Amino acid sequence: MPVKKTTKKATTTKVTKKGSAAKKAVDNKKAKAYESLRGMKDILPKHEGYWLDVFHKSESVARAYGYQYMQAPILEQAQLFVRSIGKGTDVVNKEMYIFEDRDGKKVALRPELTAGIARAYISNGMHNLPQPVKVWYQGPMFRHDRPQAGRYRQFHQFGCEVLGDRDPVIDAELIAVSYNTIKDLGIDAVVHINSIGSLEDRQNYLVELVGYFRSKRSYLSDESKKRVSKNPLRILDSKDGQDLEVIQDAPQIIDWLSQDSKAYFMKVLEYLDELQVPYVLVPTLVRGLDYYTDTVFELFVDSEDALSAQSALGGGGRYDGLVEQLGGRLTPAAGFSLGIERIILAMKDQKQKLGDVPAEKKPHIFFAQLGEQGRRRALSLIEQLRKSGVFVGSHLSKNSLKGQLELANKQHATHTIILGQKEVQDGTVIIRDMDSGIQEIIDQKKLEKKLKKLLEIV
Ligand code: HAM
Repeated sequence: MPVKKTTKKATTTKVTKKGSAAKKAVDNKKAKAYESLRGMKDILPKHEGYWLDVFHKSESVARAYGYQYMQAPILEQAQLFVRSIGKGTDVVNKEMYIFEDRDGKKVALRPELTAGIARAYISNGMHNLPQPVKVWYQGPMFRHDRPQAGRYRQFHQFGCEVLGDRDPVIDAELIAVSYNTIKDLGIDAVVHINSIGSLEDRQNYLVELVGYFRSKRSYLSDESKKRVSKNPLRILDSKDGQDLEVIQDAPQIIDWLSQDSKAYFMKVLEYLDELQVPYVLVPTLVRGLDYYTDTVFELFVDSEDALSAQSALGGGGRYDGLVEQLGGRLTPAAGFSLGIERIILAMKDQKQKLGDVPAEKKPHIFFAQLGEQGRRRALSLIEQLRKSGVFVGSHLSKNSLKGQLELANKQHATHTIILGQKEVQDGTVIIRDMDSGIQEIIDQKKLEKKLKKLLEIV
């Protein structure tokens, strides 16, 4: 369609003093850029080495153990989390992003994914599949917690869930998957483990525990005093120095387990020995979510450092009652989630630096082009190379060769392909060895084969 030329007269505006002040105000307004929300972090390209390494290695461990990918929505009915995680928990009481949507429905950003997976298992009739159903996931979670190192309001988890069977070997396998994922990422981890028994065991234990805490009430911290009747188990998790002395002599849940739960737990430990997963029995480990039964565990960096002992890399356990509690059939289940940000912090700490770009993704070859014809030919050649499995780095918006060679160096390219007008006409390209500076002219038709050789793609 022909474009109509407008003949609008250019208007000249006299910039008055008042006008310039207004302009300044607009400029100032413009200068104030938006920041990300508190506790929410951007993941930058310079960190892709860490992120992709965690994504790829965790997926590969999960797949090796026969887990399939699953995902549930980020937004769910708020009530799903209240019922699953529990009313008295910090996650539900203090940390949920909860709001009414435009239909007036109470919804929440998922603080974790176990409840969503259990809901999806029921909604999608997954009990009809061969049991157990073994799934893995990765994705963002949201908790309005007080941000600090390793604690964010948007964070990411990798996790696995096994629904539809109860056997100690499942608990041990899940622990092995979580432990080996961390190990494959170069971190020495240790598993803290405990059993909190069946719901019935826990009720009996709670009577004893509350009685004990009441007798020691005056020695407890203010926060724990409030918890004595609301959520006494959480007191066991307190890091407050005042509480620690009281906790030391508190009755231990392990002494209140039924024969069945005790035998089950022993079997889990035997399998862990078989798998050579190092663990420490921690009688006060209870976890902060209400849905657990029997086995509970957390993973920590294996270090003397007090800080690493405070923030778990991940955690999980058995939750045999959850699916039924959400309206499904009786479906025993277990799972774990690892905090990806915390794993990356540990990777950085342990100087497991992988470089900014992981080796398998590193563009060893950079494609530089000159002039309009060079750019056009580069577009089609790069696509041709991609289709044959050869990935190259490029910045097609750049015109100068010098600038492109500098970029190639920054990307640690071993070779740069140079394509200018002359090469377009001759049907050739120049291949420059970035270390020696030696250049070679080759036919474009032979480029793919040559690059595959340079990149050692067989
Ligand atoms: P969780 O212990 O609440 O368990 O979270 C698991 C891991 O997520 C933590 O150990 C930590 O690494 C990471 N994480 C939690 N909150 C934050 C935060 N605010 N910032 C950074 N990282 C965080 C669960 O979420 C359960 N769904 C685990 C599970 C799966 N149980 C059975 N299946």
